Amino acid sequence: MSEHGDGYGATAVRLDQGHIEGSGGLPERYDSRFANPGLPPHVPRMADLDEAAARRAEKQVATLFGLSSLATIVFVVAYFAISPEQAAFIPGIGKANVYNVVLGVCLAVALLGIGVGAVHWAKTLMPDTEMVEERHPQRASDADRQRVVDNLMEGGEAAQISRRPLIKYSLGGALGLFALPLLLPLVGGLGPLPKNGLSTTIWKKGDRLVRDPERTPIRADQVTIGSVYHVLPESIKDSQHVLEDKAKAAVLLMRLNPDDIKVPKELNWGHEGIVAYSKICTHVGCPVGLYEQQTHHLLCPCHQSTFDVTQDCKVIFGPAKRPLPQLQITVDSEGYLVADAPFHEAVGPSFFERG
Ligand code: FES
Repeated sequence: MSEHGDGYGATAVRLDQGHIEGSGGLPERYDSRFANPGLPPHVPRMADLDEAAARRAEKQVATLFGLSSLATIVFVVAYFAISPEQAAFIPGIGKANVYNVVLGVCLAVALLGIGVGAVHWAKTLMPDTEMVEERHPQRASDADRQRVVDNLMEGGEAAQISRRPLIKYSLGGALGLFALPLLLPLVGGLGPLPKNGLSTTIWKKGDRLVRDPERTPIRADQVTIGSVYHVLPESIKDSQHVLEDKAKAAVLLMRLNPDDIKVPKELNWGHEGIVAYSKICTHVGCPVGLYEQQTHHLLCPCHQSTFDVTQDCKVIFGPAKRPLPQLQITVDSEGYLVADAPFHEAVGPSFFERG
């Protein structure tokens, strides 16, 4: 587009002089009702005036593209060098799967490098004059189309892509290399299959129920009617895969008036009105986080599946197809709540149901 607004005939106008120029302008009905504040005068940037500043900006852009390339190379190396099973303590995250973290960080840096580099390039070296174009018929005349092509070429020239080979080649390298992470899954797959990952959790008979995140055990007499706790098994402290195990073993603990529970006493796996259910929605696995104390309903915020705690967490609304699995609980000799058995079925989405 022409800097002087002639790229689109009378309709493209330049706005960097503090007012709208050009024979098009705004329609009269707008002119009469709203004063046109215009834009502040164009202020040239450092790189517009000083070739040394322009070269500095060029190097900064190239450094960002180079950083992107480096991250992509580390991604490729890590993809083959790190075992998908390897876990370690990572500051700020805790115990986590190193493979996922490294690949994720590299991908983020690779994308960020290209993105920030492009923005910096645009802000420092590309033309920054402001233009306005009024709406015109969709199909331009052949002459206008040719003019657009000419303008694009002119824009490319103005962006200094041909004069700045460092940017051209570093961007080419970054974009070219960035295709590799997209191709690698075709060669090496998308990591291990989930198999029966949700079939078992770390809950086992005798495991105390502990509050999350305090990790303190809960005595049955501390759980008042109407209260709800987010709990985990005490054995989570020994887990090698804390995030994974925690995600699968999360449980909601509630106390109801035993008379409100509608399932026969011998089928209820609770303790004096205290019941524990998996927190993972059986629809697609969101955490079921809302408990309506008055109705004894558990709600999943993702797609509004609603489970009735008085009926063994039967689905009474929403897309979930089966009840939340119940954790059988009892108390130990000191009165603390403990699991009486592991989950009797897989937790989480129904599509993981056993055949
Ligand atoms: S994940 Fe709970 S309703 Fe969809």
